[in-house]
Amino acid sequence: MPLLGVNIDHIATIRQARRGSEPDPVRAAHEAELGGADIITVHLREDRRHIQDHDVQRLAPFIAVRLNLEMAATDEMVSIARRLRPHMCTLVPEGRHEITTEGGLDVAGERKRLATAVRRLRAAGVMVSAFIDAEPDQIAASADAGFDACEIHTGPYAAAFAAAGGDFARTNLRDELAKVADAGEFIRANRMRFNAGHALNYQNVRAVAALPEVAELHIGHAIVSRAVFAGLRTAVADMKAAMKG
Ligand code: PXP
Repeated sequence: MPLLGVNIDHIATIRQARRGSEPDPVRAAHEAELGGADIITVHLREDRRHIQDHDVQRLAPFIAVRLNLEMAATDEMVSIARRLRPHMCTLVPEGRHEITTEGGLDVAGERKRLATAVRRLRAAGVMVSAFIDAEPDQIAASADAGFDACEIHTGPYAAAFAAAGGDFARTNLRDELAKVADAGEFIRANRMRFNAGHALNYQNVRAVAALPEVAELHIGHAIVSRAVFAGLRTAVADMKAAMKG
């Protein structure tokens, strides 16, 4: 079964609604760990809309599991990551007006700039992952740019799952899952780690978790939504159960 990376950005979103001190993402990370999280993910956005610098500074030495820092490939973020040295950095495209990450990185179009960021991060001992769409040219470019891993954007699969009501007899859903599976195979053929994430939930996660050689799933919104009613520890444990089927 793949490892579960729990994205706790939404905990900071609630805190920032009052610019106060609660709920604390560090406490959330602890609860997620107790529920079985294998990785804690936070996205330090350039506009600092949820996670703040002090959150990442406190999380890095505090958590017992791996820290995955999502970030744009800017000089500022690369410098922060080189100082903090999380286990992994996932490079994502970032738009100020987006509600959440909307699409994969264009590694093929920005190979040189991204390769420089990858080199600087790897020199600090940080693994680097590219969040990309399930496209062969993006995977090949990621291998070329020196990435250790690719996280395949599962948004289109999740949308197809919702449209088909989870019925895998429907061609579109089968096709979208096959694109993720094929991407995974190509990532592994290029000797990178195959991760996946975005818009995965308790209903649609099983088919992705069952793909051969998928190493990590990164999930945020569904888990934090359930946590409002069930508590974070239980919501994470429930997600691990849903991954197993
Ligand atoms: N992976 C990446 C790269 C993301 O940007 C996000 C959203 O922050 C996720 C996974 C988690 O997506 P969701 O919140 O829809 O589970």
